[in-house]
Amino acid sequence: MKKIDEYFVPWLKGQKMYVSSHIDLAWKRPELHRMMSNENPLPPSDKVIEAILKYGKMANRYADQGFAVRQKIADINGLDGIENVLLGNGSSEVYDMIWRSFVAPGEEVIQQTPCFGIYKLRGGIVGAKMVSVPMIYKDKQLLFDPDGVLKAITPKTKIIVITNPNNPTGNFMKADDFVRIAETGLPFVVDEAYIEYSGLGKSQVKLTKKYKNVIITRTLSKAYGLAGMRFGYALGHKDVIVQIAATLIPWNVSTIAMWAALAALEDGAGLQERVEFNNQEVEYIETEVGKIKGITVFHSNGNYILFDSAIPGKTGKGMVDHGVKKGLILRGQDPMYGSEGWFRVTIGSHAENELFVNAVREYFTH
Ligand SMILES: Cc1ncc(COP(=O)(O)O)c(C=O)c1O
Repeated sequence: MKKIDEYFVPWLKGQKMYVSSHIDLAWKRPELHRMMSNENPLPPSDKVIEAILKYGKMANRYADQGFAVRQKIADINGLDGIENVLLGNGSSEVYDMIWRSFVAPGEEVIQQTPCFGIYKLRGGIVGAKMVSVPMIYKDKQLLFDPDGVLKAITPKTKIIVITNPNNPTGNFMKADDFVRIAETGLPFVVDEAYIEYSGLGKSQVKLTKKYKNVIITRTLSKAYGLAGMRFGYALGHKDVIVQIAATLIPWNVSTIAMWAALAALEDGAGLQERVEFNNQEVEYIETEVGKIKGITVFHSNGNYILFDSAIPGKTGKGMVDHGVKKGLILRGQDPMYGSEGWFRVTIGSHAENELFVNAVREYFTH
């Protein structure tokens, strides 16, 4: 008799469940400040809470296909209609659906690193080979490398994914470079998880009208502040969206989440308040930490900031450990480009951001 292990598909072997230990720690120890997962520090607005309560009372009912919220999303983005919009249980599920739609075991997904870790995790499940093209670290900036991405294409390439602005580096890729990659005809996923912090004027959604192969992903986890709600979506040509939709797990987005999402999308003032607060706090932290000699600050268009320190005897990991002593959960970053000085913060309340700035000063200047 064969052992149970031998029945698993081979590419699943060795893959592990994703455990977000810093988020588990934050729930276990609520007295710690959550400055590690690019969450929004502001709780949902009253309008969103109202929708949660209203549809919570109808939780005995199955959801429809999300007609109302998909129409709203299409309108906001200047698209024809609901046929251009696919809903996911967070955008992480959207990548899962896209990867499953295009990638067979052994085929390749190109990503620009450092980037969001879920691309690789969901790649592992479909047996994808992840091809990581590093950004270029030059003149205290981490730059996109579209030439490197184009050079990495092989006959096995099935998807190219670019995050815009990128997490963790916070910067945008140039508009022309999106066109160059779109012109390859390869499925091209542009992850716009943080786009609302700069406004939809910076979105590449218009490319979906000209290029059927371009798919935009978004989430309500960031500027809209609904990470725990789980609501993300993809935008694209109707023929592409309808095919990916075949992978949808029925009722993947709950009734409560879709109506709360609609309320959030309709609450323009709520979004503006969150964006303005975030951008002002980004500026505060960048200015204050920027005063410390030896720390490179990567200007962010998101709700997080990446730093690289070149101060002898000090490391990014040391900073993260110091943060915990000060009650702050921060995020480390594996050594890269020959430096161990990397760390990242997520914007918190103003008081939390002050605590962070003080902790950084204390660690690096003592
Ligand atoms: C680049 C990027 N995409 C997407 C997400 C969000 O995922 P979700 O919509 O599943 O919450 C994140 C969250 O950190 C992210 O950094």
